[in-house]
Amino acid sequence: MSGSIPVGRVASLVGEVPSPAFNGLASRLASLIADGLLPLGLRLPSERDLASALGLSRTTVTRAYGVLREAGYAGARQGSGTWTQVPGGPARGRDRALLPQPDRPSLMDLTCAAPSGTPGLASAYAAAQAALPAYLTGHGYFPLGLPELREAIAARYRRRGLPTTPEQILVTSGAIAAIAAAAQALLDPGDRALVESPVYPNAVASLRRAGARVVTVPVDPDGWDLDAAQASLRQAAPRVAYLIPDYQNPTGLLMEDAERDRLAAALARTRTTAIVDESHADLHLDSGPRPAPMAAHCPTAITVGGSSKAFWGGLRVGWLRVPANQAGRLTQARLGLDLGAPILEQLVLTGLLTGPDASAGQQRQRLRLQRDLLAGALSDRLPSWRFRTPSGGLSLWCELPRPAAAALALECERRGLLITPGSVFAPDGGLASFVRLPYTRPTDDLLAAVDILDTAWRALDDRDTASEPVRILIA
Ligand SMILES: Cc1ncc(COP(=O)(O)O)c(C=O)c1O
Repeated sequence: MSGSIPVGRVASLVGEVPSPAFNGLASRLASLIADGLLPLGLRLPSERDLASALGLSRTTVTRAYGVLREAGYAGARQGSGTWTQVPGGPARGRDRALLPQPDRPSLMDLTCAAPSGTPGLASAYAAAQAALPAYLTGHGYFPLGLPELREAIAARYRRRGLPTTPEQILVTSGAIAAIAAAAQALLDPGDRALVESPVYPNAVASLRRAGARVVTVPVDPDGWDLDAAQASLRQAAPRVAYLIPDYQNPTGLLMEDAERDRLAAALARTRTTAIVDESHADLHLDSGPRPAPMAAHCPTAITVGGSSKAFWGGLRVGWLRVPANQAGRLTQARLGLDLGAPILEQLVLTGLLTGPDASAGQQRQRLRLQRDLLAGALSDRLPSWRFRTPSGGLSLWCELPRPAAAALALECERRGLLITPGSVFAPDGGLASFVRLPYTRPTDDLLAAVDILDTAWRALDDRDTASEPVRILIA
């Protein structure tokens, strides 16, 4: 169990109880648990306390807890009260393809930099389901995306000062499908593509699959090497440059406006089209002004966006924002890959983007807390590791005092923790001194992970030549 909650807080979350009261209370509690507003493993208030806080009889609350248990949203053990859970258990949320030992429930996976569903997501699905019947009357193909979602996405850019029409938006099955469509549209076999190093490896795989010869430009923990980027652009004159200026994965870096200007000018000189991946852009965790979107500096840029990081990876909805004169070309490329994203999920995202938490404030608040906790615990326990606390994004990019990341990953895996060594993010190899540590898990898990990192690091002797585990990395 992960703690208790003041009864007044539960009462205010429950609010008005629909009648019949026992069922109404059970269904309010179930939806709060499903929405992540009441965390899993939480001890619910005693029946007597909740009854008095809600002005209900104790029998009503007892019956409500009974309904909740039957539906799988609560468990009870003699003497330890009633605690929250989800039907089927959280193990259903784990993917067997990604875990070396899927049946080892204690195995903690920090290889995936993607948060759990944003609070309120289950309700957003319920609302989308209610809106679905109108769409069932048609054939269900919306290869460019639902008009209302395209408008909601365009409005987001306009709010950030970048004029955008819905016609410039193409909804895709996640940001990764958007990258694949852009690569398909822009590249011919043998064309050069500039990428940062370290970089998100699945994007590089998409570029290579479209025939690109990849040229890298270094991003070190303190920032982009723009001199090197300019030199590479001049020498290689690449057809495209894949860039992650907003909370770069894996370094977490944010490119300043002046740097964006300078890079945009260099891209223009070589007529290189930027594919700008903004899939982390909404995860600004610190206050302060945000730089303008890269496309405001570089009007020919094709921008990739997504909902996986601010809301949930399971939505599988992303998008492209393209210059108006490129929409046809990108649409054609996209049709060879898939025929549109699922309607229900597009409705969910439309609801989220037009709802009260459109800026994912709750998700950001959770991530901020987790980032600060992980950064603090690492500084305390492993002071020889170096990292910069990023102002947004999902991970800490940690430099070890020696090139032992692969050995550390193996040592951690033996102890029940999966982490990704830096070489996975290096298209040319190297980066053996780095590990990426996402702060996407709850705080208790992160503290347990730091325990393991600390003991694994101490246990490392001369095994740092070990080869790294081969694993699928998705986020
Ligand atoms: C930089 C970057 N781009 C794209 C993706 C893929 O996102 P999606 O889940 O929207 O396909 C990820 C996932 O981690 C990412 O980090």
